[in-house]
Amino acid sequence: MASRSKSDVCPVTAGYLLICPVRRIIHDPEKILSPYIKEGMTLLDVGPGMGYFTIPMARLAGERGRVIAVDIQKEMLEKLRMRALHRGVAERIELIQADENSLNLSNYRERIDFALAFAVVHESPDAERLFRDIYSAMKKGGSLLFVEPIGHVSRKKFEDSLKAAEIAGFILSGRPSLFLSHSALLTRSGDE
Ligand SMILES: C[S@@+](CC[C@H](N)C(=O)[O-])C[C@H]1O[C@@H](n2cnc3c(N)ncnc32)[C@H](O)[C@@H]1O
Repeated sequence: MASRSKSDVCPVTAGYLLICPVRRIIHDPEKILSPYIKEGMTLLDVGPGMGYFTIPMARLAGERGRVIAVDIQKEMLEKLRMRALHRGVAERIELIQADENSLNLSNYRERIDFALAFAVVHESPDAERLFRDIYSAMKKGGSLLFVEPIGHVSRKKFEDSLKAAEIAGFILSGRPSLFLSHSALLTRSGDE
């Protein structure tokens, strides 16, 4: 496994830039996510940072829905918690701290309807392990939207990550078009 230095992980200062409202011009969360989310769903946001997508996910999932947000940095989760409280959706969001070896999702086996991994896989030293953890948490037939920024991730690196996702068990089911991004829709097959 490749080792990862702390500098490979998005710094907390950059986390503030990622929640800037101007980002909506290129990445409108509702527009990106609403095709996949229905009220009452259980959702997973992998590497949520300060919750740019997590909070719209909680709104789209409604009062009966849940979002599991799992990040490796405690500071990101704490800021996400405060933002969710101020926006009245904290009760719909569960925060989990990942560690170097696991997303720590053992309580969520086969419970997730839809997952998002936006700008996080390239920060992990072991993409296949990350995809396996997500896969185990997905319901059969559930889908994962996997997105990487073109500024940080080459086409080749993205395709290598897709291979890792397929080794973990996912099936490539689409290539949604997303501005300044590589993206893929991956599905957990229902026939195991
Ligand atoms: C570039 S930020 C993206 C944040 C958010 N997805 C967005 O698009 O606004 C990447 C986030 O992934 C988190 N992260 C990096 N490696 C991780 C891992 N192995 N497990 C969970 N979170 C991780 C970082 O702490 C950071 O919050």
